[in-house]
Amino acid sequence: MASSSVSVYLKDENLTQETRDLLSSLPSEKGWLVSQMYQFEGSWQAPALLQGIVNCQKHFEANDSDVILATFPKSGTTWLKALLFALIHRHKFPVSGKHPLLVTNPHSLVPFLEGDYCVSPEVKFSELPSPRIMQTHVTHHSLPVSIKSSCCKIVYCCRNPKDKFVSLWHFGRKLAPEETAEYPIETAVEAFCEGKFIGGPFWDHVLEYWYESRKNPNKVLFVTYEELKKQTEVEVKRIANFIGCGFTAEEEVSEIVKLCSFESLSKLEVNRQGKLPNGIESNSYFRKGEIGGWRDTLSESLAEVIDRTTEEKFRGSGLKFSC
Ligand code: A3P
Repeated sequence: MASSSVSVYLKDENLTQETRDLLSSLPSEKGWLVSQMYQFEGSWQAPALLQGIVNCQKHFEANDSDVILATFPKSGTTWLKALLFALIHRHKFPVSGKHPLLVTNPHSLVPFLEGDYCVSPEVKFSELPSPRIMQTHVTHHSLPVSIKSSCCKIVYCCRNPKDKFVSLWHFGRKLAPEETAEYPIETAVEAFCEGKFIGGPFWDHVLEYWYESRKNPNKVLFVTYEELKKQTEVEVKRIANFIGCGFTAEEEVSEIVKLCSFESLSKLEVNRQGKLPNGIESNSYFRKGEIGGWRDTLSESLAEVIDRTTEEKFRGSGLKFSC
């Protein structure tokens, strides 16, 4: 088990007997970051997060006014949390005032559903300002039923697989240096491409939300990190329209974009120092924030392996990443 792990998501001492029984019935594999991962409803999960997913499926009740941010880890979750919070609550918290994002890490403003549920099944989100914003990493088919059956909105953000992989690679090595030290990147890329990687398979996750967004565009909005980076204002307005808080002609979107930019958030004391309640250092969520940063970490041949897999998996879907 992950001995030096600081995050509650990697600890397995709080697993209930019910979760242990479930784990014993699931396919399992040795993994990177966690010594043992389990395949639940098609995805490979760490034990604690798997407990969180099951609790969330059983207990979470969505409201029609909720906004659910769904992402694969390291795809821009922190950025979207900041943007959604700033957008939805912009009249309550004007950017010109003492904005909560200046003193609070975005992860403390927008809860991680299965992350909170991994600690206790009794989580209440009633203290959140309305409309509530919550985040998840689960696949579309593993979402709690009420998220799918209610009128709540789902914003899905994905990122090109090479940058996403590299971002997770560095994040994991910082989170659990001992457990990841001996694991070669070549093996990690191979496991990632086979789909046997924490949270994976990545491509199935993206495709599910992609097809859902095409089938039901009023329910699921598909956003990419790359488009958000290239034309932030356009994309932020598109997100605002989708969640029902579109901008009037007089309103400026640029202030929110600036507040939530990598440059602004990563410099704030609250995001540079200390740890979050999940045990993760606040600054772990802000590394480079670039498109194409994978070049520093992946050799050309490893990049090609990921590109080939992406091409194969996304063929015929209409989805493409050019970086
Ligand atoms: P890098 O590791 O490539 O720098 P997540 O929030 O899903 O965990 O993803 C983390 C990635 O998003 C990291 O990528 C991080 O630097 C980047 N990121 C965090 N905040 C950002 C922001 N405001 N704008 C752009 N990228 C951001």
